Amino acid sequence: MYPLKRNRRLRSNEAIRSLVRETIITPNDFLVPLFIVEGKGVKEEIASMPNYFRYSLDLLENEVKELWNLGLKSVLLFVKVPDNLKDNKGTEALNPNGLMQRAIKTVKNICPDMLVMTDVAMDPYSSYGHDGVVKNGLILNDETVDILTDMSLSHAEAGANFVAPSDMMDGRILSIREAFEANGFYNTGIMSYSAKYASAFYGPFRDALDSAPVDMENVPKDKQSYQMDPANRFEAIRETEMDIDEGADMVMVKPGLCYLDIVREIKNTVDVPVAVYQVSGEYAMLKAAAEKGWLNHDAVMMEQITAIKRAGADVIASYFAKDVVKLLNK
Ligand code: PBG
Repeated sequence: MYPLKRNRRLRSNEAIRSLVRETIITPNDFLVPLFIVEGKGVKEEIASMPNYFRYSLDLLENEVKELWNLGLKSVLLFVKVPDNLKDNKGTEALNPNGLMQRAIKTVKNICPDMLVMTDVAMDPYSSYGHDGVVKNGLILNDETVDILTDMSLSHAEAGANFVAPSDMMDGRILSIREAFEANGFYNTGIMSYSAKYASAFYGPFRDALDSAPVDMENVPKDKQSYQMDPANRFEAIRETEMDIDEGADMVMVKPGLCYLDIVREIKNTVDVPVAVYQVSGEYAMLKAAAEKGWLNHDAVMMEQITAIKRAGADVIASYFAKDVVKLLNK
């Protein structure tokens, strides 16, 4: 007898396909990265990230309102720091009136229910473009953890709901959690970039913040001594489990598409929410191919976002968030 099972029955029209679809994308899936600069009336397009912008605080207000009205309820803040405020210790990161601290207050002011997460890392503040203190060609771990802890406290004091340490120093989650408890920030969460790879896909982001490692003697040329080797899988599990033990509320895999095997492995191993960061280079690749007419932008975007969620992402940080939600609303 010819097959009793014909799998195509479940694909025969949109009604049945939508009935049995396993992965549904909604605005609730997204965390929206935002780039912030000093100034007034500034909305600058990032050269390597078409249709993505840096905003000054006044224009950030409109953007945040628009996101909220689209149902996007979580943002992840990054600041571009003027060169003259950068040093090897990230001193400006602790300024209670610094750009990040003002940005947190601006978002909370305009939209009190918006979930505000902040990037905690030294690189935008570092004169060397590194996520840690540089000494004799090395990145110092424990000195950096102290700075990251103070930076986290400063963000919590300004009103951040979550801090998101993206540096990959050892022991920073425990240090930040202990400092939060000791200072009464019991409800301030930590989303750890727990499996963050030393990826070439971060290039456009470093353009956006002017934060790439500088080319100088005795300064490491890349971040391979702290971010993970793309060749490794078991290490990702170890890193993630350690961050959870140290007190991370959520963990993250970054970048997204090239690392979906890691996402699934971690999703099957841990019981906290797993975030995935679809990074700047992934965004840039699709924008460029679509500009050339080589790929259908919206179709490929939806396929990629669906793949990330299907792999196990509970939360997706993506520069496509607004594009996706606008498409869903069409
Ligand atoms: C800072 C940080 C980076 C990204 C997020 N936080 C850059 C880096 O580690 O070099 C990359 C995000 C992206 O590429 O979209 N530590």
